[in-house]
Amino acid sequence: MALENIRLEVMKTVEKSIDAYVDKYLIPVEEIWQPTDLLPNSQDEGFFEEVRQIREEATELGYDFWVVLVADMVTEEALPTYESWLMDMEGVEQHGQQKGLQNGWAKWIRHWTGEENRHGDTLNKYLYLSGRVNMKEVEKTTQYLINDGFDIGTGRDPYRNFVYTSFQELATNISHKRVGQLAKKKGNKMLAKMCNIIAGDEMRHHLAYREFVKTIFEYDPSEMMLAFEDMMKKKIVMPAQFIRESGQGIGEAFENFSNAAQRLGVYTTQDYIEILQKLNEYWEIDKMTSLTDQAEKARDYLMKLPDRMTRIAERIKVPQDPHQFAWVAPNGTL
Ligand SMILES: [Fe+2]
Ligand SMILES: [Fe+2]
Repeated sequence: MALENIRLEVMKTVEKSIDAYVDKYLIPVEEIWQPTDLLPNSQDEGFFEEVRQIREEATELGYDFWVVLVADMVTEEALPTYESWLMDMEGVEQHGQQKGLQNGWAKWIRHWTGEENRHGDTLNKYLYLSGRVNMKEVEKTTQYLINDGFDIGTGRDPYRNFVYTSFQELATNISHKRVGQLAKKKGNKMLAKMCNIIAGDEMRHHLAYREFVKTIFEYDPSEMMLAFEDMMKKKIVMPAQFIRESGQGIGEAFENFSNAAQRLGVYTTQDYIEILQKLNEYWEIDKMTSLTDQAEKARDYLMKLPDRMTRIAERIKVPQDPHQFAWVAPNGTL
């Protein structure tokens, strides 16, 4: 059988369990939190007082913090790009929704998107109310990111895409959680709660995607191994890699944002390495046998990669001078 056909067969097999995955890893609309549960209710009498408190608490947070929060929010707001990217994977069929004929993978992606959409919503409203950032510049960055689109190096291959999402969901879990911890340290409980609860969603998503990969390893170990190796050789590029400020090229903003995230300890090279180690462990890469010669080499490469990356990371120095972003004024006020 041609390789592509095997992938489609595997996708069809895993798809049979999609309802169980949706039940286990996602939460029904009527039960899950919504942004308004975490933000001041604009229909309440006390709305302005709560907004005043948000603005007061926000003054405690520093320049790098706002840069990181903006970039996190913009990354979440580019959700249309991710949904359309995933919908285009081999094995996903978004038509035929009537009469219960919805393709299982399309259902997963829709429900996942529905959950993810609340993240950008929450952070956007918070940032708007905080008064600390230039919202118009932030909004332009979001629109640029959606306009520019991105290429994460997965092609239409579900195996590569699921490696990407397994990795990426854990990376966002870590960064939202750490932003929440920094907010809490400065006494900003509302923001801390928001970041924590978003991080919880990311963790559920991570657990689902890593399970998809684990299952695929059972059916098609050599091809799954090669897909994993290929993604790690290309490096997992964050969606934020493609952000830009108005008047600038793609990539400039990311480097400066990434430096800010490293300075704050929100997301570091060490985190990247640890995510890889966790994936290696969960997928039991070291125990994988009956592989093709090429896949065996890929396995050995993946097992050695964390140490190799650690040696390289030790030599990298993070610049200490904050870059001036259009999103945030120098003293944090506008
Ligand atoms: Fe998210
Ligand atoms: Fe996510």
